[in-house]
Amino acid sequence: MTTKAETKTPRETVTLIDNSNGRTLELPLLPGTVGPKVMDIRPLYNDLGIFTYDPGYTSTGSCKSAITYIDGDNGILLHRGYPIEELAEHSDFLEVAYLILKGELPTAVQKTKFVGDITRHSMLNEQINFFFRGFRRDAHPMAVMCGVVGAMAAFYHDSTNIHDPHQRMIAGYRLIAKMPTVVSWAYKYSLGQPFMYPRNALSYSENFLHLMFATPCEEYKVNPVLARAMDRILILHADHEQNASTSTVRLAGSSGANPFACISAGIASLWGPAHGGANEAVLQMLTEIGTKARIPEYIGRAKDKNDPFRLMGFGHRVYKHYDPRAKIMQRTCHEVLDELGMKDDPLLDLALELEHIALNDDYFIERKLFPNVDFYSGIIFQAMGIPTQMFTSLFALARTVGWIAQWHEMLTDPDQKIGRPRQLYVGEPMRHYVPLDRRG
Ligand code: CMC
Repeated sequence: MTTKAETKTPRETVTLIDNSNGRTLELPLLPGTVGPKVMDIRPLYNDLGIFTYDPGYTSTGSCKSAITYIDGDNGILLHRGYPIEELAEHSDFLEVAYLILKGELPTAVQKTKFVGDITRHSMLNEQINFFFRGFRRDAHPMAVMCGVVGAMAAFYHDSTNIHDPHQRMIAGYRLIAKMPTVVSWAYKYSLGQPFMYPRNALSYSENFLHLMFATPCEEYKVNPVLARAMDRILILHADHEQNASTSTVRLAGSSGANPFACISAGIASLWGPAHGGANEAVLQMLTEIGTKARIPEYIGRAKDKNDPFRLMGFGHRVYKHYDPRAKIMQRTCHEVLDELGMKDDPLLDLALELEHIALNDDYFIERKLFPNVDFYSGIIFQAMGIPTQMFTSLFALARTVGWIAQWHEMLTDPDQKIGRPRQLYVGEPMRHYVPLDRRG
């Protein structure tokens, strides 16, 4: 991977002075194409014997990347330079997937080939069918996904050699193509319904709705408004630079682990309620709040430092402005509810009121807490008939393309090393073993 920043000679530097001994170190400032400069601290330990301390990586860049750019202060999200609003409006999920993976929008010929390649990888090895059956019917779909996706390494050996570019590509295509089948089978299994097989004549999003909602008993006609909404939701979740799950995929992959294991690790990380699990948590929160009259009580709880409750779907590590994805999601939510004749949906009404109250509350204003991508997605999913437990799996489905692109970028980066953070040790210094009869 090369970035424009990499080709420039850094002219600016930062000088660090260790006041305990007067030693200094001049560190280069690396300019990105846009965004803040990054101080290159690689010589720090060798030259000064010092590590940095940054829990949660609030000021640490963990890699170079040319995939996604976020300007959190201004609510800007770009994939390969293209604004998310333009992609959500004019593109489709597989075209965005191509862009994220390969760096450019495809030509018509490239797009046809890519769509064909993905479509022809959508079936799962039939043996995986039995793997699903080993789970309890009430298993959380994210638990099923962690297991099944990790186990895919056992079924697709011929795409686990990470040093072979062709195998890397095939593994990526397989994961993107098979994920709708995995997610829908987790759902079908929970219902006790037969697994449906992919339909190659359908688009990626249409096929996913077919896999989820069709049964072998009757013809299922995909609603084009819902298919378009699903496609847009997938675009909005496709990548988001170095978030927790993506960083997990990169870290797992940095040891040379196979792609199926790495994506399974990403799914595990995404599951948490502070990350992808928030869409499920938003719906649970709205259901618990129940009526507009109870909103002030929950706003009060969110502000109370002694109460662990947080307003789910609000706040973001990077966005200190309205999340641009949340705006598109809100619009999509209205479109879907209109189409389904649910204009007066009480949950949407409650969400809009909650958003309005929070956006006018000093606590949220001062901390720059705005709705994020998860605030409205749950309402759309619920209206489509997708159960709450499935929400985070849909996020995982969409994010698979971002994880694959970032994993691939990491492996082809000449600076790539195994990820190995250091620490500030605060435990006991060396002491000597005391035999049991002399302790106490
Ligand atoms: N409700 C109430 N207070 C909040 C919230 C919230 N949702 N989010 C942040 N705060 C407060 C927090 O208590 C802190 O206040 P103070 O400065 O007085 O201690 C301040 O805002 C800064 O919060 P932080 O925890 O230091 O910020 P962070 O960058 O570590 O956390 C976050 C970001 C997304 C984990 C957090 O905002 C949160 O827990 N939000 C709710 C969960 C959620 O919606 N997650 C989805 C994120 S977007 C999709 C994704 O990434 O997967």
